[in-house]
Amino acid sequence: MQQTNLKGKNVIIGICAGIAIYKVCDLVRSLIKAEANVTCVMTEDATKFVTPLTFQSLTKNKVFVDMFDTSYFEIEHVSLAQKADIYVIVPATANTISKLANGMADNLVVSTAIATTAKVVVCPAMNHNMYHHKAVVKNLETLKSYGYEIVDAQRGLLACGVVGDGCLADNETILKTIENQLK
Ligand SMILES: Cc1cc2nc3c(=O)[nH]c(=O)nc-3n(C[C@H](O)[C@H](O)[C@H](O)COP(=O)(O)O)c2cc1C
Repeated sequence: MQQTNLKGKNVIIGICAGIAIYKVCDLVRSLIKAEANVTCVMTEDATKFVTPLTFQSLTKNKVFVDMFDTSYFEIEHVSLAQKADIYVIVPATANTISKLANGMADNLVVSTAIATTAKVVVCPAMNHNMYHHKAVVKNLETLKSYGYEIVDAQRGLLACGVVGDGCLADNETILKTIENQLK
């Protein structure tokens, strides 16, 4: 693998309930191969698509889902936020993008975003019409105004069976963005 600046970096991945979640497994593997220390945080709904066990097995780190799990030693949204060299939310659903734009903190994925001073990278993925809805467009603009880096979705064959915008950016683009943001 090509030399990267990811070695030893604490990359926190916030994972949401989008169908493109299966691509995140490969993204995590690429980060691990580049010797980043990867920790995953998932929304409750994301765990209906892929279990935390998958990401735990890939990263060899605990996966955090429940903000109120008292078996955690630390207050996770704060400790993860402090630990992060970069925080990458992928796939970012319309729902989570809305929460982020409004400063909501009702789960670990969004509360980590507002508790961190690290760069936040948001990778949206959704149906074409959702991606072009004024609310989503406006929320993504709001996130840009907060200094978040948005990795634009791409045109391609969507899970709903039609060609359109809203496909998760390819992993190479996301990795390059992470590397650039860590410079
Ligand atoms: C099969 C299926 C696929 C979905 N794919 C997406 C998607 O790609 N993008 C999206 O924004 N929402 C998608 N949704 C809707 C989200 O799962 C739903 O809004 C969820 O509450 C988001 O939760 P989260 O943002 O807390 O992860 C999908 C739902 C289902 C049932």
